[in-house]
Amino acid sequence: MSDVDPVMLVDYGPLRALIGVWEGGEGTDISPEPDAIEENPYYETIVFEAAGDVTNAETQKLAIVRYHQIVKRKRNDEVFHDQIGYWTWDPSDNTVSFSLAIPRAVTVLAGGSYQPDSKELKVYASAEGADWGISQSPFMLEKAKTTAFEMVLKVDGDTMHYRQTTSLSIYGREFPHTDENTLKRAA
Ligand code: HEM
Repeated sequence: MSDVDPVMLVDYGPLRALIGVWEGGEGTDISPEPDAIEENPYYETIVFEAAGDVTNAETQKLAIVRYHQIVKRKRNDEVFHDQIGYWTWDPSDNTVSFSLAIPRAVTVLAGGSYQPDSKELKVYASAEGADWGISQSPFMLEKAKTTAFEMVLKVDGDTMHYRQTTSLSIYGREFPHTDENTLKRAA
C-alpha cells in the first residue's frame, strides 16, 4: 500500500496505518489512590484523522494525524479519560512526535522514532527534558505532578496495541500510572 494520501497528496509514512476509527474492549488502567492502587478495566474509541502537513521555519516538513481518544469504565460506562492531540512524522530523520492534552490541565509533547523492524512507534517525554516535555497547571505541579511519559504503539494490519506509563509524583510517593489496550479497526 502506498503511504501517500490520494486526496491530500501527503506522505504519512508510518502514521498512515493509524488513520481510521479504532475500538478496543480489553483496556487495563492502573491509577493512584491515596493508600492503594486502583485497577480499572476499560473500553475505548480512538479516531485518527489525516490532517495534511505543515512546514516549520521554511525547512522542516511534518505529516500530521489528529486524534481523539475517549475511554469508558466498564464498571459504569462513564467516560473517565478524554484525550486529544497529534502525531507528526518528519521523513527527513524519521522523528515522530505525539502530543496530548487532557482535562486535568496536563499536556505532553513526547518524541521518538518509528522502528521499521518491530513496526513500533516509541515516544518519551520528561518534565525535566530538554527536548520533549510536559506542561501542567500549578495545582498539578504541586499535588499530582506528571514527571515522565512513555508509550509504545504498534499497528499490525487491523490490530493496534499500545502500552503507556505516566510517571506521577502524588500522595507523597512516585507512582507508575499505566494504561494498555488492544484495538481493532472499526471503519
Ligand atoms: C487510557 C488512559 C488513561 C486512563 C483510563 C486514566 C485514568 C485515570 C484514573 C482512573 C485516575 C485516578 C483518579 C481518578 O479516578 O480520576 C487517573 C489519575 C491521573 N491521571 Fe490518568 N488515565 C489515563 C491516562 C493519563 C495520561 C496520558 C496522563 C498524563 C500524561 C494522566 C494523568 C493522570 C494524573 C496526573 C492523575 C492523578 C490525578 C488524581 O488522581 O487526582 N493519565 N487517571
